[in-house]
Formats: sequence, C-alpha cells, structure tokens
Amino acid sequence: MILPIYVYGSSILRKVAQDINPDYPNLKRLIDDMFETMSQSDGIGLAAPQVGLSIRLIVIDGTPLAKDDPSLKDFRKVIINPYIEERFGEKVIYSEGCLSIPNIHEEVEREEKVRISYLDENFTAHNEVFEGFAARIVQHEYDHLEGILFTDRLSPIRKQLLRSKLGAISKGKFTADYKCRLVK
Ligand code: NI
Repeated sequence: MILPIYVYGSSILRKVAQDINPDYPNLKRLIDDMFETMSQSDGIGLAAPQVGLSIRLIVIDGTPLAKDDPSLKDFRKVIINPYIEERFGEKVIYSEGCLSIPNIHEEVEREEKVRISYLDENFTAHNEVFEGFAARIVQHEYDHLEGILFTDRLSPIRKQLLRSKLGAISKGKFTADYKCRLVK
C-alpha cells in the first residue's frame, strides 16, 4: 500500500523518533509499504516519520543508482533503532533532495564515513561502517529520526534564500507527483 509522505511544515518531521521492539504491530507490513511508497516516488531512502510514524525505522534502496555507482549494487536495507557511533573521513559536499521537501535540491556537507549500530528486519544487531554515497543516504535518513531536515544543514545565506519556498511548502503550495500530507 502506498502511504502519503508528510511534507515540510508537518510537526512529526521535527520530533525525535522512538525505538521499537519486535512486537511493534504489523511491522513487516509497514516495512513492505515503506519500500513500495519509496520506489513509487523514486526515493532511495525513507524514514518512518516521513510516513507519519515517530519510530526509529528507515528503509533504503540505493540499487537504482548502481548504474552510476557500482558500490550501491546490493545497498537495500532495513535499519531499525540506529545510533550513529562516529562520523569520520573527509567532509564531502553533494546535492541532496528529500521526498518531504518537494522540488528543492541543495548542496549539503557531510562526513564521508559513518559507523552506526542498528538492528535489521530480523532484529539482528549490526555495527557497520558505511562510506561514500551509502554514508550520505544513511546520514540523511538518520537525521529524520532526530527531527532534522537537510535544509537545517545549509548556510544561513542559503537558508534565507530558501525561506519563501519552504514557507510555500508548509502552506501546501507545491506540486509533487506522489501522495503528500501536511499535518501541523
Ligand atoms: Ni529526506
């Protein structure tokens, strides 16, 4: 089932999400729905707050980009209760977008590598280093669980230049070719 994406201005995007346990109701169904919603909207990552649930759950599918970046060939993951242990390596600047912030792309600086502890869909624990584009996707989605959006990471000048566009989204004045929801 395709779920509506909560957009900029929705209060759920600003909450710190909570850990879940294996008893979380209909978790498998939710994960399937998030993958379906993400691929239908051409996303490569989706965090549960973006579908209106303040829980620490992320789905990622970087495989559509493997043509350009072979390291993403098998990068399809469910990440539950993640915590970033460390960020390291060079700072890298790259253009990002977000399904919750339609039609805006901006260059964001992030560390090249990240170590996270997390559980997979079977609640098996992992402690893993991601790097390159995978590290960027993980950090962007992780931010969603902390109530942070990529636009928060821009310089004061870029933020100022985006103010009216972001304001318009938060008033529902935008177009997207996927189902959206705005709940203040
Ligand atoms: Ni996003």
